[in-house]
Parts: sequence; C-alpha cells; structure tokens
Amino acid sequence: MGTCETQSLGVLLLLSWAITIQARSSLYITYKDPSQPVNIRVKELYKLMTLEEKIGQMTQIERTVATPQVLQDYFIGSILSGGGSAPAPNATAQAWIDMVTNFQKASLSTRLGIPMIYGIDAVHGNNNAYGATVFPHNIGLGATRDPYLVKRIGAATALETRATGIPYAFAPCIAVCRDPRWGRCYESYSEDHSVVQAMTDSVLGLQGDIPGDYPRNFPYVAGKNNVAACAKHYVGDGGTQKGINENNTIIDYEGLLSIHMPPFVDSIAKGVASVMVSYSSWNGKKMHANRHLIIGYLKEKLGFKGFVISDWQGIDRITYPPGENYTYSVQASINAGLDMVMVPYNYTGFFSAVKSLVNANVIPMKRIRDAVKRILRVKFIMGLFENPLPDPSLANQLGSQEHRDLAREAVRKSLVLLKNGKPGSQPLLPLQKNAPKILVAGTHADNLGFQCGGWTINWQGSSGQTTAGTTILQGIKSTVDPSTQVVFSENPDANFVRSQGFSYAIVVVGEAPYAETFGDNLNLTIPAPGPSIIQTVCGAVKCVVVLISGRPLVVEPYVPAMDALVAAWLPGSEGQGVADVLFGDFGFTGKLPRTWFKTVAQLPMNIGDTNYDPLFPFGFGLTT
Ligand SMILES: *[C@@H]1O[C@H](CO)[C@@H](O)[C@H](O)[C@H]1NC(C)=O
Ligand SMILES: *[C@@H]1O[C@H](CO)[C@@H](O)[C@H](O)[C@H]1NC(C)=O
Ligand SMILES: *[C@@H]1O[C@H](CO)[C@@H](O)[C@H](O)[C@H]1NC(C)=O
Ligand SMILES: *[C@@H]1O[C@H](CO)[C@@H](O)[C@H](O)[C@H]1NC(C)=O
Ligand SMILES: *[C@@H]1O[C@H](CO)[C@@H](O)[C@H](O)[C@H]1NC(C)=O
Repeated sequence: MGTCETQSLGVLLLLSWAITIQARSSLYITYKDPSQPVNIRVKELYKLMTLEEKIGQMTQIERTVATPQVLQDYFIGSILSGGGSAPAPNATAQAWIDMVTNFQKASLSTRLGIPMIYGIDAVHGNNNAYGATVFPHNIGLGATRDPYLVKRIGAATALETRATGIPYAFAPCIAVCRDPRWGRCYESYSEDHSVVQAMTDSVLGLQGDIPGDYPRNFPYVAGKNNVAACAKHYVGDGGTQKGINENNTIIDYEGLLSIHMPPFVDSIAKGVASVMVSYSSWNGKKMHANRHLIIGYLKEKLGFKGFVISDWQGIDRITYPPGENYTYSVQASINAGLDMVMVPYNYTGFFSAVKSLVNANVIPMKRIRDAVKRILRVKFIMGLFENPLPDPSLANQLGSQEHRDLAREAVRKSLVLLKNGKPGSQPLLPLQKNAPKILVAGTHADNLGFQCGGWTINWQGSSGQTTAGTTILQGIKSTVDPSTQVVFSENPDANFVRSQGFSYAIVVVGEAPYAETFGDNLNLTIPAPGPSIIQTVCGAVKCVVVLISGRPLVVEPYVPAMDALVAAWLPGSEGQGVADVLFGDFGFTGKLPRTWFKTVAQLPMNIGDTNYDPLFPFGFGLTT
C-alpha cells in the first residue's frame, strides 16, 4: 500500500469516526442509558415531560377500555386486569402475551417511549389465568407458619405472572383480619400481626432478594423473572367494625400502629415496590384521603420510596354516593399522597380533573413531581425500559409441574387437625389406605372451583372445573390401595350410608366461593346442605370432616358427631395435598392462624383479648 492510499484511508477512518460521534451525541438520551444511576434517569426523563405525560403516568386503566389510541392520546402509565378480566375465556399464556405486547408497543411508540406497567391481582398464584397453579389462599399459608414456603410461592407466582407477560402483581395482601365476618378474611395470613409480618417474605419471593448493600426502603425488583409487588391495603383494612368490607376501623393511633402497621414496615424494609391504599376509613376518615397516614407516615416517617396506588375506584368512594364530587375526590386523594390511581374506566374525567386542579394550583406541581418520579423510579429499577416486552420463553411456567408440586406441599402444610378420635376411642387419622370400601361425601369433595375459592378465574370464583387441577376426591382415589372401592355420593341418605358396609367416610363441605363485600357474613354458619350431610353421614359411619372455608365457621354443634375434623381453608388447585395428609403419607403440622370461636356472639375475639374463650385457640393444631 502506498503512502497516498494510507493517508486517504486514515482520512476516511477519521471521517467515519467523526460521523459516529456526531450520530451518538444527537441520539444519546440520558434516561435511556441503563448505565446511568436510576435517580439521574428519573430526573432527566421527568425534565422532558409535559403535564399531560405526567398525568398519564399517574393513570391506571382497565384492559377493556385500553386501546393503542387511548394509550397514546393519554400517555397512560399503567393498565390492569380487574378480577376475572382476561383477553378471552380460557386464554392461553400466548394470548395474554400478545395482548400485553400489543399495548406495550403503543406505549413505546409515544414521544418519550415510556413503557406502561401492566398489573393483575395475582393473589394466590396468577389466579386470573386459566391453567395457572392456584395456591392456597393466605389464611391457609398462615397456618403453615412457614415464611420460606410463602417466599417460594411468591417466586413461583412471579414466574407464572411473567408467563402471561405481566410484570406487576397486586400482592401480597398483608391485612391483619381481626374479624372473620369480613369477606376478605381469607386474604389475611392471620389475626396476629407477627404471623403476617413473617409472611411478608412473600415480597422477597415476588420481587427477588434484596442485595446486601441496597439502600433502605427503596423498591427492588430483581429482573424479568420477578414482578413488582404491592403491599395492601394501607392501613387497617382488617379492622373494620363487624368485619364489614370497606367500612370503618375504630381504633386509637397506638392500636393502629401496633396491630395493622407492622406488616407494612416489614414489606417496605423488604423493598416492596408499591403500596395500595385501603377503601376503609380510620376513625371515620377515608384512607384514600388521609394525608397524615400516606404522606406523613408512609412516605415521611417510614421513608417508603416506591409508589402509592389507589384501589379500584377507591378515590370515587371518598364521597357518598361514590363519584358524587369527583373533582373533590381527585383533589383529596392526590393531595393526600396517592401516586397512581386505579381509575379504572373514566380516564378522561380523571385526566381533566387533575389537569384543571394543577392549573388552579389546588394540586401543587410538587405533588405531581413526587408521584411521577416514584412511578418512574420503579419502572427503571425493575428494568422495564430495557425489557418492556413479554418474554415468550416464560410461557411454559404457567401451571408448571414444579409449581403444582409446591402448591401441593403448601396444601399439606396448611391443614389443621382440630379433632382426632372421639373421647375414649382410637384416633381415626391417618386413614387406612386399604379399607375395602369407603364413602366420600359432600358438596366440596369433587368441586375444583369450590376448593379454590374467590379470586379464581372469576373475581367471585365459581363452581366446578373452572381451570386445571385435582379435586380432593381425585386425590383420594389416587392415594388409596387399588383394591379399595371409593364410593362418591354428594348428599347420601342415612340408610344408604348404613347399608353399604363402609369402613369410614370422608365428608367435605364448606363455603361456596366469594370475594370482598359478597363474602361479608354475620352468621358464619356452614351453608346448607353441609350441616345435614355431616349429621347424616357421621351419624351412620365413622367420619372425618374436611371443612373448606375462608375462615372459622360455626362447628361447635356438630363436632361431637365427628370422629375427626380438619380445617383445609381454601386449598386451591392441588387437592392431592389433602389426601397426602389424610392417609398419612405426611403428618399434620398446621396451626390455627386464627381463633376458632364458639358462637358469632363472641366476635370479634382475638388472641390476647380478655374473656378469651374459644372453641379452639389461636395456634391450636393436633399432629399425626
Ligand atoms: C359502614 O357500614 C354502615 C352499614 O352498612 C354504613 O351505614 C356506613 O356508612 C359505613 N361506614 C363507612 C365508613 O363506610
Ligand atoms: C365538591 O367538594 C368541594 C370540597 O369539599 C366543595 O368545595 C364543592 O362545593 C363540592 N362540589 C359539589 C358539586 O358538591
Ligand atoms: C367521567 O368523569 C367526568 C368528571 O367527573 C364526568 O363529567 C363524566 O360524566 C364521566 N364520564 C362517565 C362516562 O362516567
Ligand atoms: C373453558 O374450559 C373449561 C374446562 O376447563 C370448559 O368447560 C369451558 O367450556 C371452556 N370455556 C371456553 C369459553 O372455552
Ligand atoms: C348467613 O349470612 C349469609 C350472608 O349474609 C346469608 O347468605 C345466609 O343466608 C345466612 N345464613 C343463615 C342461616 O342465616
């Protein structure tokens, strides 16, 4: 090569280098650079945003009103699936992924390309999704007293949620339910705040373990196999009078801080990304408008650095009737410290209310800045800017065998043995596997929907084979000796039971599924025909009763007739776990996470109360 050629090559190289630099500097955008610290990225992005884009980040809408056009026009920051809201009945993981991808592409195509965050009530597994593993509801997990199990369930739930392309779960519910008449009591791990506190390890499972040197109280989400979590409902949701949902929690400040607050302190220390505010009131003041407890306590005193989200139409319910004075609702909630609002339908009303209140200086810009920065902080920390789209390779995590095995283990550990043998006679459990002929009876023995409870496929749950799983009857059949004849009769008559020569009977009865307000119940009786099935069968043959319920029920009148009684709570999709323990492949280890009352007249009655006179005390549980 001659000198001349070398020189021109050098010039060429220099030129192309200069062009590269030029291109880089004009394309370089600080907030898009993952090597920049999160606070710099948040600051730089915030500086570029219009008021409209800021309000959009604070807006969460339901998938049914979300279209690419709406996401673009209103710069929507978040979408959710309400209870049971799916892209199609029995939608596959791929159908969920396609839906989320479609929405996300619209968000990414906006001026600043800020990804939206999709959230869902994955409260006992990714329970909206057909074919997901359905874990026991929290009350059953409280009975296990096993935080490491709950952490592993959190990690599995994160994977199953990501399997559907979703990076955000409205879980865990860390309510301290003080009255089982509350329809959400099964979403609470325990009446004892220290049990609930231990179970906040769920956050570490959902989001991943916090690195040792991580800044205190900052949100943490490890990456694309984890999800942002949400501690709910702040605060006092489980303390309402008579357990009336969304009602008034009457308790002094000290009581609020010592009973209902501690699980939030733990969740925040474990890096929870968001906190959902409770519909309920504290001493008559709506939590959604409680500036002292949201800004003053949660953000300033506890130093929470994630974002605060409303409940579904939660701000509307600040007034009565709900939405009566929506402008006031927006003003009161945003100024109280709400960062993201689960609107979820009327985003135009929300948008214009926020905008006019900001322009009128009723909502200070400082408040908007705080809200938007918190939301962006979580989005950056969790890597949503780098990995905004669903990862289709995770689709096979939905309902995986490994997760079903974990759920089955959880069922085994959640069972609480309350009685085993009548006075003066031998224990009935563990049951004999090789009895010639046994009876399985009851409305809940062969009903997957019933054993899963509310928040399963539908918001309120439903009856029958609503998703994939194993009923308790199927579990029994696959556990007994091949020579054992298993006869199933949902509601048999006494002559039949007496005449068949059954060695013993397994009676499975309980509550039908419910969620939230629909589950409020002042009598807490076992619904018909449960009591008559117990009396008929247990009057005719040796029996173990397995109670499927979201809470203790009135059982005292029937206990003498039973040979054995097991509280199975709402075990979920893996009914085999019940049979594993009934037949002695595993022992009973569960302990009551709640006080079992004699009559509803005693309620509320919790461990530590004076005049504590339960049928079975908190912590009770026989072993085998
Ligand atoms: C509590 O419930 C009662 C009875 O339904 C109702 O009248 C009252 O307004 C409720 N209170 C709150 C704060 O929701
Ligand atoms: C809405 O509430 C605000 C604040 O309490 C009040 O000033 C205003 O008059 C109310 N508007 C209506 C229509 O009730
Ligand atoms: C949406 O909210 C605005 C503001 O409160 C209200 O004027 C409008 O009627 C609402 N629209 C619907 C469809 O509810
Ligand atoms: C959903 O799956 C269940 C079986 O698990 C089936 O009975 C039902 O018909 C399916 N629904 C639709 C709309 O495909
Ligand atoms: C108990 O309360 C529930 C919920 O209100 C109701 O549906 C049921 O009929 C009541 N049962 C009895 C026996 O009163």
